[in-house]
Amino acid sequence: MSENISFLGLGLMGTALASSLLAAGHHVTVWNRTPSKAEPLVAEGAVYADTPDKAVGASTLVIVCLLDHASVTQTLDGTPLAGRAVVNLTNGRPVEARQTADWVAERGGDYLGGGIMAVPPMIAKPGALILYSGSRTIYDRYEPVLSVVAEPRFTGADPESAPLLDMAMLTGMYGQIAGFLEAAALVRSAGLPLRDFVATLLTPWLNAMVAQQATWVDSFESGDHSTEVSNLEINRAGLENLVRTFREQGVKPDLLLPLKTVIDQRTARGLGNEGLSGLIEEL
Ligand SMILES: NC(=O)c1ccc[n+]([C@@H]2O[C@H](COP(=O)([O-])OP(=O)(O)OC[C@H]3O[C@@H](n4cnc5c(N)ncnc54)[C@H](OP(=O)(O)O)[C@@H]3O)[C@@H](O)[C@H]2O)c1
Repeated sequence: MSENISFLGLGLMGTALASSLLAAGHHVTVWNRTPSKAEPLVAEGAVYADTPDKAVGASTLVIVCLLDHASVTQTLDGTPLAGRAVVNLTNGRPVEARQTADWVAERGGDYLGGGIMAVPPMIAKPGALILYSGSRTIYDRYEPVLSVVAEPRFTGADPESAPLLDMAMLTGMYGQIAGFLEAAALVRSAGLPLRDFVATLLTPWLNAMVAQQATWVDSFESGDHSTEVSNLEINRAGLENLVRTFREQGVKPDLLLPLKTVIDQRTARGLGNEGLSGLIEEL
């Protein structure tokens, strides 16, 4: 079913999202602060609105993808939102999501926020995910539209939940990036074949370790961090060796040091017999 959709914010991400909605046959009205960025979408069939007011007036479903939450409220300030389903795909902190949801509600609108787990070339392709929270009514009504741009996942009525989970996902990614970079730097320092190391050793190893870490959820929930696998004391000794090796190879271990610090703190409390899952209590 073709829907009327208004789309505000035609940066790199907004353009990819709006373009995929047009390609799926929806009737899309677009607005952007810099009007020239709308031209390629108008060529694809979008209708251009020259003010946010006119854009919001054109459709019940209003999707916003701007720089930050401040630019969202600035853009929509003074625009009546009564009866509008506002889907905000702008990145922000959980607290900001709640404030923007309240701000939209004060103006009569319903609010659904989304955290985009993809980059623009992934939009409308397998692997793209958007985490949503806020109005279940909007999510249920417009799920087919949301499904065009990425796999949608509703995470709860609390508008803070999607941005918090978004940040948790990015946290996991950054931690993995830290280990990946340190490992590659160490191998390069020894002049060993890096491409082969990444493809045949590091990548399968990381995949196997992630599967192992997933079993820690039982300990996170129960608070019982006893282990039959590998205790903190042995990991502390292992990291000590790692850090010394990095220094001997002339490579900075800076991305590893924070993990060592937390292990040292936990073992200093006499909890070296726990497993690595126990570090969650220290955090
Ligand atoms: N790109 C990604 O890989 C990616 C991935 C996940 C999530 N996101 C999120 O998607 C959102 C948009 O990102 P993007 O990559 O599209 O960024 P972008 O290319 O820099 O575009 C930013 C958009 O915000 C508009 N804007 C900035 N300040 C504004 C203001 N004060 N008033 C009105 N409009 C304003 C810009 O308008 P002008 O064109 O006039 O400058 C432009 O449309 C961000 O929240 C970002 O975190 C992006």
